[in-house]
Amino acid sequence: MTAAVTQTTTTDVFGRPMRDLRISVTDRCNFRCIYCMPAEIFGERYHFLPKPELLTFEEITRLTRTFVKLGVQKVRLTGGEPLVRNDLHLLVAQLAKIKGIEDLTLTTNGYLLAQQAQTLKNAGLHRVTVSLDSMDDEVFKHMNGRGFGTARVLQGIEKAEEVGLQPIKINAVVQRGMNDHTIADLAQFFKTKGQIVRFIEFMDVGTINGWRMEQVVSADEIVALINAVNPVEPIEANYRGEVALRYRYRDGSGEFGIIASVTKPFCGDCTRMRLSPEGKLFTCLFANDGLDLKAPMRAGATDEELEGIVASLWGRRTDRYSEERSSMTPDLPRPKVEMYHIGG
Ligand code: GTP
Ligand code: 5AD
Ligand code: SF4
Ligand code: SF4
Repeated sequence: MTAAVTQTTTTDVFGRPMRDLRISVTDRCNFRCIYCMPAEIFGERYHFLPKPELLTFEEITRLTRTFVKLGVQKVRLTGGEPLVRNDLHLLVAQLAKIKGIEDLTLTTNGYLLAQQAQTLKNAGLHRVTVSLDSMDDEVFKHMNGRGFGTARVLQGIEKAEEVGLQPIKINAVVQRGMNDHTIADLAQFFKTKGQIVRFIEFMDVGTINGWRMEQVVSADEIVALINAVNPVEPIEANYRGEVALRYRYRDGSGEFGIIASVTKPFCGDCTRMRLSPEGKLFTCLFANDGLDLKAPMRAGATDEELEGIVASLWGRRTDRYSEERSSMTPDLPRPKVEMYHIGG
């Protein structure tokens, strides 16, 4: 039995409410994307978090209830790759019972999606977002670092559609010289399917992907590339704080989005809290460390005490990394959490 939750609004120093929770359920992944977990660093002997370090599903659910009480309405499961965590559907089923979550979704690379889609849907997942950087097999094989072709990911997307995990979104990270020549094709492929591709500007998340500004293909360039093939126009955001800028094809055949964190930062409306697999809280994707919730929880903290820790962390929050990025000295790198650990 789930008790009804009375929600409050928790705001940070700039008045931004805490509305979204992104839960990374594992730091493991079956891909080795060159911009996230380059295979030469994350080899067979790389030490990922040992199981006892991971929050259990019960712990994640308990914490999520706390976040929902403090105003969270949207929950996204990420990783690493969330579908490599055993029996993820059991967590989904627990989260689906929490009153107050209006959107329960998951970001996946799609490789294990076909086999899990129905179970996840039955457990109460609302929708999925699938990462797919190119429709060109050779480009995709290179970018995922494992030589996997697109076929299995496309099967995953089809299955998710079939079982009703909609609306499905497709995320594509764009890197200059890598997949920018395949942008228009990717847009074209998903245009008529009712699945919305969002092109993501390559970001300087973490410290291991060797990010350089020259590798970023800007939102304006991406729009121009698509517009040259099929004329487009900007449309209104679905909701305040939506990460993607939306565009539609003038011929009425669909829409796509651009996530322009580098050239058009959106920190002003950032309502996202992030929970890492081992129970640390990050108030920004570019934070260097998080606040540990697992230790107090395992030491016996009450729900009220945990709520106090979360509310006070959010209350002190001043993060606006992407807006500050341009004014920072590029040759002064600082430690930052890695994408595979925090899940985008
Ligand atoms: P919808 O709920 O479908 O609108 O998705 P979303 O806006 O939550 O987007 P999603 O979770 O698919 O995020 C897409 C990508 O945008 C992430 O993987 C990140 O790369 C980037 N992104 C999301 N949130 C943030 C953020 O707070 N800051 C930055 N810099 N990038 C973000
Ligand atoms: N820049 C932009 N997007 C990234 N992602 C992973 N690393 C980066 C990066 N450096 C994307 C993944 C996935 C989502 C979780 O984040 O491709 O779509
Ligand atoms: Fe895995 Fe996603 Fe990172 Fe690629 S971007 S290595 S799929 S966690
Ligand atoms: Fe939010 Fe940090 Fe991203 Fe800005 S850079 S939108 S504060 S997560």
